[in-house]
Amino acid sequence: MTTVFHRSPKQSLPVAVAGDGIEIIDSTGKRYIDASGGAAVSCLGHSNQRVIDAIKRQSQQLPYAHTSFFTTAPAEELADRLVANAPQGLEHVYFVSGGSEAIEAALKLARQYFVEKGEPQRRHFIARRQSYHGNTLGALAIGGNAWRREPFLPILIEAHHVSPCYAYREQRADETEEAFAQRLADELEQKILELGADTVAAFVAETVVGATAGAVPPVREYFRKIRAVCDRYGVLLILDEIMSGMGRTGYLYACEEDGVAPDILTIAKGLGAGYQPIGATLVSERIYQAIVGGSGFFQHGHTYIGHATACAAALEVQRVIEEDKLLPNVLARGEQLRGRLREHYAQHPHIGDVRGRGLFVGVELVKDRASKTPFDAGRKLHAAIRREAFARGLMVYPMGGTVDGQIGDHVLLAPPFICTERDIDEIVSRFTDAVSGALLSTI
Ligand SMILES: Cc1ncc(COP(=O)(O)O)c(C=O)c1O
Repeated sequence: MTTVFHRSPKQSLPVAVAGDGIEIIDSTGKRYIDASGGAAVSCLGHSNQRVIDAIKRQSQQLPYAHTSFFTTAPAEELADRLVANAPQGLEHVYFVSGGSEAIEAALKLARQYFVEKGEPQRRHFIARRQSYHGNTLGALAIGGNAWRREPFLPILIEAHHVSPCYAYREQRADETEEAFAQRLADELEQKILELGADTVAAFVAETVVGATAGAVPPVREYFRKIRAVCDRYGVLLILDEIMSGMGRTGYLYACEEDGVAPDILTIAKGLGAGYQPIGATLVSERIYQAIVGGSGFFQHGHTYIGHATACAAALEVQRVIEEDKLLPNVLARGEQLRGRLREHYAQHPHIGDVRGRGLFVGVELVKDRASKTPFDAGRKLHAAIRREAFARGLMVYPMGGTVDGQIGDHVLLAPPFICTERDIDEIVSRFTDAVSGALLSTI
């Protein structure tokens, strides 16, 4: 019996009691390789002594001070560090406690910016289908994850959706990457014009799509073209790097690889690496000045924003990533992981695509490889893969509804940045066994 209201109350869960590098150990002593970082969170594994010591030091000195009275050294230092490495123009950091809060802050910042600027008619947000931006009402409203939204539709704010940059399914056979990117940018432009160009506040997108479609990277030039469309109509570009940011793709900010700088950028997950709950919304100087030079403050706030111990943990995570040179390892191990999976699945009839960037990898399963036909949703292949992997001591992050929110199956892999070559080989071995087991057990 439990009094905890669990995510899936009918499922019985093992009790996690310890962490050891990339593994979690349960109360029976069973070890699980965390090949998904939970949900792309635990980038330093589960026992980083430096981060644990930083948390101890900060909580002994001062665990928390409300941000309406004080600032703290870890918050200041962490913000300086995030800004110093950020895409050009992002000059200020609003700290929150997680991803959904970072998105809520982003939406309200965009709205308040236009109110301050004397453009209060700008109220529309455009995002993409097959996206996820969080579970709070604002974030859920702009997200394009159909099944998550469905029960709450009557209470969600209005939001608009365009096609995702999902090359495996949406790029036409006779279309170049460039033409595909252009078609999507044109679609966004049409949507802006349809809504009325001066009524649109922002376009929101995950730089690399995470859980909803499985590590889907944009094609080259996509975001440059999107940026140009936004600029043409004074629409803000909000990039959600809650999953893909903070080194997951091998770059501290995933959009570095795309050569674009957004007006607002959200991070969480890897920022605190699971050692503390923390997220952040980075904001351009232009937006900051409009608000601070206007009404003088951002009309927002939560009790735990800028939490001192959370900031101290995140600061140490960032130092470890830099000092231990983990980003080159993310790139190398990511190449290895995709390479091994592609080799293994070169002829496999049910693996349609292996994709991603850095240690952010998606595997899409299909009934028929040539036609890309997905499996019937009723087969619940994704759930079987999760079960089979867990039984083999492997944590992965599978999801259904890959294609349209209803059908399709994929698995997201997001192992810790500290993985070795041998760890990746072990992950591939257990994963491929689990997929075979799931395909057999669901026939
Ligand atoms: C891209 C993206 N945005 C937002 C969120 C919401 O973050 P949180 O679960 O911390 O509220 C997630 C969580 O998975 C995410 O992947």
